Amino acid sequence: MLEISLNGWFEDMPPGQLYLVGGTVRDLFLNSSPKDIDLVCKDAKHIAHSIARQKNAALVALEKKPEEPCYRIVDIKNREKLLDIAEMRGESIYEDLGRRDFTVNAIAIEIRNDCSLGRIIDPLKGEKDIKDRIIRRVSDKSLESDPLRILRAVRFAATLDFEIEPVTLEEMKMKSPLIRNASSERLMAELMLILRCREATVFFRQMDELGLIDTILPESIPMKGCRQNGYHHKDVWEHSLLVMENAEHIMNDLSGFFGEAGSEVALNLGSDRLSLLKMAALFHDVGKPITSGLNDKAGRITFYGHEKAGAGIIEDMAVRLKMSCQARDFLRLMVAEHLRPLFLASHKSGAAARMRWFRKMKDDAIPAIILSMADIMSSLGPDSGEDFRVRHISWAREIILEYYRGIKTRIETPILVSGNDLLGLGMESGPGIGRILAGIRSAQDVGDISTHSEAIELAKKLIGELTEE
Ligand code: CTP
Repeated sequence: MLEISLNGWFEDMPPGQLYLVGGTVRDLFLNSSPKDIDLVCKDAKHIAHSIARQKNAALVALEKKPEEPCYRIVDIKNREKLLDIAEMRGESIYEDLGRRDFTVNAIAIEIRNDCSLGRIIDPLKGEKDIKDRIIRRVSDKSLESDPLRILRAVRFAATLDFEIEPVTLEEMKMKSPLIRNASSERLMAELMLILRCREATVFFRQMDELGLIDTILPESIPMKGCRQNGYHHKDVWEHSLLVMENAEHIMNDLSGFFGEAGSEVALNLGSDRLSLLKMAALFHDVGKPITSGLNDKAGRITFYGHEKAGAGIIEDMAVRLKMSCQARDFLRLMVAEHLRPLFLASHKSGAAARMRWFRKMKDDAIPAIILSMADIMSSLGPDSGEDFRVRHISWAREIILEYYRGIKTRIETPILVSGNDLLGLGMESGPGIGRILAGIRSAQDVGDISTHSEAIELAKKLIGELTEE
């Protein structure tokens, strides 16, 4: 029995026939509660305005399907509640359904005058495909009339756990270059939905086989076939896919990996950060192809400065894909810092350097450490020893626990003395003040001092040393 409550939206039913369509009907057949309500009707603009007026709700025009108007009504009291009204394509609901993307999205249900659900209209046998969990394009025109649908097919397979049927898959492969005609915003929206899935790497591999990755993310092309040194058993691209998979493996089991800190790490990776970290994992070595060189003496392949070069490349990618500034900065930082945890874990690096890094990175240190874990788990060449991998993973777990047990509070605590305190001790303003403050901050971070008076004592000592220099 299909049921959905539409009463809240309509005080008076608008004139003309309204149909429930798209994801809403699909979700009803799947027994999951629809995220939003998709309606189709004639004269959508007029009807959308009149519903928005009656409900005192906000109305925005959407670019869902490029050629056809669609209006979104947002309940101001509950912004999660959305109603999308699209203009009917063609003369009848049958024509409209025939122009939709996939059979599972091309079922309509009449809405009666009392808001209850009426006749089911399913000329393309979408209900059967939902039962069989199959993604099938509606017609041989479906993909080229809106090439974004090639990516949407992968997205629906990923999010619904459906299979794409062979003819559709074959056509997707043939027509994949057309995806370049889709706007960056629409591409990114679909990619983010795929990245949010637990096993997104599987679908990135599928997109790669279909030729979609080369077109949407051409930065991957030079990574393919780019040879690596003895730490690695795969080329840069295959290694990167494995890092993405291992990052996903860690993120799918946060309490298994980080114990009591698991829930804090989950909060840290909230919003889009988890998806973006997968993307950073896939492109953490994007700077390798252009920095690849040969160390003549040892005959080893080197990639000096690849993290810095890669940070620039991923930043440009984010700009091209019209990602938010926040997303762009996060990706840039992850790529730039992906090697740092490896240095910090080594014996050569002291506690003060580690605290300086945490102070610079703050909560972004956690995803950077997870990325370094995934990187090490995926470096399985003859020169990369199992003991090194085990040591790094256990260092990473420990340091993340320590971060939430004390480091985070310590770096967030303001410095114990100010520049004015130092002037009060007779210092002259100038660069010396900055050096003394850095020394005090460092001692405070590693726990050598914890009170104002201890900080003043240390300041006096450091000022003395400075004057002797
Ligand atoms: N649609 C289409 N072609 C597109 C986009 C959308 O034919 N490129 C149609 C489909 O019938 C789809 C409906 O418009 O089901 C609504 O689109 P959208 O909200 O983007 O997707 P949903 O299927 O509703 O999926 P979800 O809400 O789960 O993202």
